[in-house]
Amino acid sequence: MDVAVLDDAEAVGAHVAALVADAVARHPDLVLGVATGGTPLPAYRALARGSGDLSGVRLVALDEYVGLPPGHPASYAAYVEREVATPLGVPSAHVVVPQGSGAALERRIAALGGVDLQLLGIGRNGHLAFNEPGSQLDSRTRVVALSETTRRDNAAPFGVDPVPTHAVTQGIGTILEARHLVLLATGAAKAAAVAAALTGPVTPDCPASVVQTHRRLTVVLDAAAASGLDGWRLVGGPAAERVHHPQL
Ligand code: PGA
Repeated sequence: MDVAVLDDAEAVGAHVAALVADAVARHPDLVLGVATGGTPLPAYRALARGSGDLSGVRLVALDEYVGLPPGHPASYAAYVEREVATPLGVPSAHVVVPQGSGAALERRIAALGGVDLQLLGIGRNGHLAFNEPGSQLDSRTRVVALSETTRRDNAAPFGVDPVPTHAVTQGIGTILEARHLVLLATGAAKAAAVAAALTGPVTPDCPASVVQTHRRLTVVLDAAAASGLDGWRLVGGPAAERVHHPQL
């Protein structure tokens, strides 16, 4: 596990953008798993300001709401187009967003040769994509019911409309097959979930805790999201040396 703790959300965005740009420079046809939500936006904006050619990159989204009309601005299909594909110059034909039951997404990921670099957020309740607490750790892409916490946390883009009750999400087992996981979190509201995910047991109670089992994990946090890690000792291995904390 490689953990970077940076000052703020902008710095997290710059760090993640550099990591993605570096991967694309080495693999112009990178399969990039994109997280949605607020956390990765600074990373996408920093990438868009960069000079790299991202037109060969393939984008795969983690999840999508069920039941929204096509083109709904709060849909993740619309998010990926608006916040990622268009600003980064990735053609729409290179964008995959889950739909329907989920089996089709698994086939499309397989056809792409798997996800190379997967960006991940974390919910306040420890969810990973829309794998809510209680999800099987070997789950595949499927339709799930959203928790009330998640529906409340995600309400803003829906305005007065109700937040959907269900979503299709890559399963935990699906996500773990990506070659490199990059978990991002910013803000104090995520501190407890981050601490549980990185230092607690690997358990369905905190789906994000499975990242601990991945052999190539990078964690990028701002100081607020890392605040629950105070006194945390990284156990063994070179990762401990790579922890970077500019405020210490
Ligand atoms: P957020 O969502 O980036 O909008 O906080 C993250 C998540 O719920 O996984």
